[in-house]
Amino acid sequence: MKTHVVIGANRGIGLGLVEKLREQGQRIIATCRTDQGGLRKLDGVEVIDGVDITDQHSLHALADQLPEFDVLWVVAGVLKRTTLDSVDPQVCQQLFEVNALGPLMTVSALKGHIRSGGKIALITSRMGSINDNTSGGSYGYRMSKSALNSAGKSMALDLLADQIAVFMLHPGWVRTDMTQGRGLVDVHESVQGLMERVQTLTIENTGTFWHMQGDPLPW
Ligand SMILES: NC(=O)c1ccc[n+]([C@@H]2O[C@H](COP(=O)([O-])OP(=O)(O)OC[C@H]3O[C@@H](n4cnc5c(N)ncnc54)[C@H](OP(=O)(O)O)[C@@H]3O)[C@@H](O)[C@H]2O)c1
Repeated sequence: MKTHVVIGANRGIGLGLVEKLREQGQRIIATCRTDQGGLRKLDGVEVIDGVDITDQHSLHALADQLPEFDVLWVVAGVLKRTTLDSVDPQVCQQLFEVNALGPLMTVSALKGHIRSGGKIALITSRMGSINDNTSGGSYGYRMSKSALNSAGKSMALDLLADQIAVFMLHPGWVRTDMTQGRGLVDVHESVQGLMERVQTLTIENTGTFWHMQGDPLPW
């Protein structure tokens, strides 16, 4: 049994991940900003609420409550629309703060609790891939996820000496609130793939970017 910390676990992919890890008998510490009840129903899952990844105080308060653990999943994220005709700097700033700076501050605050041999899964998006961009648009979201990928690569190099592996994982196009229920896969299929990636990838693959289905993605 391993100990997993899941950040952004009250709905969508985060909640699905907690449910699946629980079925496997793993120890889970699930965090959220506000638990709407879904997490507390899951017997055995340790829930810590009041964790906002844009707020360093809440991340340090979380760190104070955590034991040593094996896998950190940073799932929290937001999607908002930005087109070339309407660039709202506040929206872009919020996307950057939650999707890029938030995961960086999260890893910075919690890394001291991750065991040697542990893993960090950053849930990014293939929309952050510059090479894979064939449809344009989504400026703020794409930029924020590219920045997350960049940060993840540096984390991988910085944490190599501690033998902590870092992976950037695309969950697929998943039917959640974020996509207003549209998508190609359901949460169950996405988290199955994400968990397989984290299980199979090793320190030899640290700093790499993957589709949950198992294909490497270009930067
Ligand atoms: N769904 C897709 O097709 C898709 C595709 C590619 C990548 N992704 C990525 O996958 C991740 C999960 O997406 P999802 O589809 O499950 O989205 P979702 O259903 O909208 O859930 C987003 C989660 O992030 C949390 N969150 C947002 N801002 C936060 C903050 N400042 N601090 C802490 N938690 C915060 C939300 O908490 P609240 O309930 O408090 O708002 C919620 O738990 C995101 O990083 C997203 O970018 C999703």
